[in-house]
Amino acid sequence: MVGIGHTRWATHGPPSDVNSHPHVDCTGRVAVAHNGIIENWREIKDRLIKEGHKFVSDTDTEVIPHLIEEFKKQGMQPYEAFKSAVKELKGAYALVALDMDEPSKVFFARHTSPLVIGLGDGVNFLASDIPAFLKYTRKVVVVRDDEVGYITSSEVVMERGKRVGENSIEWMSVDLHPRVRVVEWTPEMAMKEGFPHFMLKEIHEQPRALSSTLAGVREIVRDVAKELRGASRVIVVGAGTSYHASYIGALMLSNLGGLPAQALISSEMRWYARSVSEGDVVIAVSQSGETIDTLLAARAAKGKGAKVVALSNVVDSAIPREADLAIYTRAGPEIGVAATKTFTTQVLTFALLSVEVGRLRGVLSEAEASNHAKVLGKVPEIASHIISVFEARAKTVAKTMAEKEHAFYLGRGFGLPVSMEGALKLKEVAYVHAEAYPAGESKHGPIALVEEGFPVVFTALSLDESELIKSNVEEMRARYAWTLAVAPKNAYELLRNVDVAFPMPELPSTASAVLYVLPYQLIAYYTAVAKGYDPDKPRNLAKTVTVV
Ligand code: G6P
Repeated sequence: MVGIGHTRWATHGPPSDVNSHPHVDCTGRVAVAHNGIIENWREIKDRLIKEGHKFVSDTDTEVIPHLIEEFKKQGMQPYEAFKSAVKELKGAYALVALDMDEPSKVFFARHTSPLVIGLGDGVNFLASDIPAFLKYTRKVVVVRDDEVGYITSSEVVMERGKRVGENSIEWMSVDLHPRVRVVEWTPEMAMKEGFPHFMLKEIHEQPRALSSTLAGVREIVRDVAKELRGASRVIVVGAGTSYHASYIGALMLSNLGGLPAQALISSEMRWYARSVSEGDVVIAVSQSGETIDTLLAARAAKGKGAKVVALSNVVDSAIPREADLAIYTRAGPEIGVAATKTFTTQVLTFALLSVEVGRLRGVLSEAEASNHAKVLGKVPEIASHIISVFEARAKTVAKTMAEKEHAFYLGRGFGLPVSMEGALKLKEVAYVHAEAYPAGESKHGPIALVEEGFPVVFTALSLDESELIKSNVEEMRARYAWTLAVAPKNAYELLRNVDVAFPMPELPSTASAVLYVLPYQLIAYYTAVAKGYDPDKPRNLAKTVTVV
């Protein structure tokens, strides 16, 4: 038995039945599912329409089965026709195709968008991501750019395309054996294990994810720190939650490591690329390792002679493969669309890295560095404590938050990126319009929106940050805002002055930057549940975004 399917994110044409994959040719014998964007679809479609093809959808994908049909009409066998069609495509694609004339095969091709093969016992799989087939096999081959082939239930054939000239590709067969990997992830990791949602399971899994990461990254962190030590500049790039980890990473590298470091949103990198040069190090942060914006930012940096370091949770994914050095967090597969455990493990990695860089550069004394390292070693245990202490309070907060339309998350210093992540979580899964702002800037605009009951959430990671935030709390209280704060438990004055307090363990910024987000993950999760939404599948969002 063979089958193909696809969950659309909808780049061309609205989400509707007619635009849903698979798409078929005029004969109904060829079917295609595709992730990515075919850039030259318009010209191919116009040409095929002239040749008599009938199209029914608004998608770019629909040109592919028709192209295959066209090559078959010229007398080609299905696989040859598939390869000839692939040759004409420009853009990004992970493709799978069925042809009723060779019904035991699923054809595939990849360019830029992720595609992996799962090798089972009497069954083989193709998917965008490993967890899709983890229940059936842990034996994986990651398909690389410009590879094509087909699978049957017992066979995998793969070839590599080499472009010769403008429009011609030579196919060479690929030996799969050295490419087969057995992933450490277990099938249970991709199941809910009694939790109602993956997001909640993954929040609770953080102590384990942090502890595996601590054990797993030690050596490579030392190598990367040596690379960073003499860097003339460090740029940390990421998208979404990974950008927030990048922001914290840049702050830590500059604060503890004494390096000139800045964070950039991956899709904004192109406007800075001209100033990148040899001597710079670009750290590309992406849990999936496949986000196209981050991949392109890394490529742009490499093209200018910078060293690229990848920080990812998926071994062998595109960004680490193209980087000079790769650090892998050990969070296990993350299924919930909203990142939780991959974020805290990324931040933990940055903490370890920054402490090591600080030590190498003499910015931190040996004693300071070993104190940071000691506390970081306890982060898994503290995470578990925070989750158990604050879960009920987060649930109570969620009941009120579920009635709100807007919220501000305000912080200073390290508290700002943590606020940004808190706001993003609430926005993503609970659809509350949450905005993060530097607390000191809130009086220059945002405060105009505040009225009675408007939620304002403050984050302070240290006593210093708490002191600076006190006046902002007063400003909001004077306007009858509903105030909440996540701050160290000895920030008595701040915590006493808000409606809901989350008194957190007092920790060095390296550890609190990992942990202070935990109450926000819980608030977002329970707010989504209180509103009746499925936090694992937020509308319009995808776990891995492979379109620019
Ligand atoms: C998507 C997801 C986010 C994620 C971002 C970056 O937008 O919905 O949760 O943070 O991509 O993903 P990455 O795999 O690069 O970390």
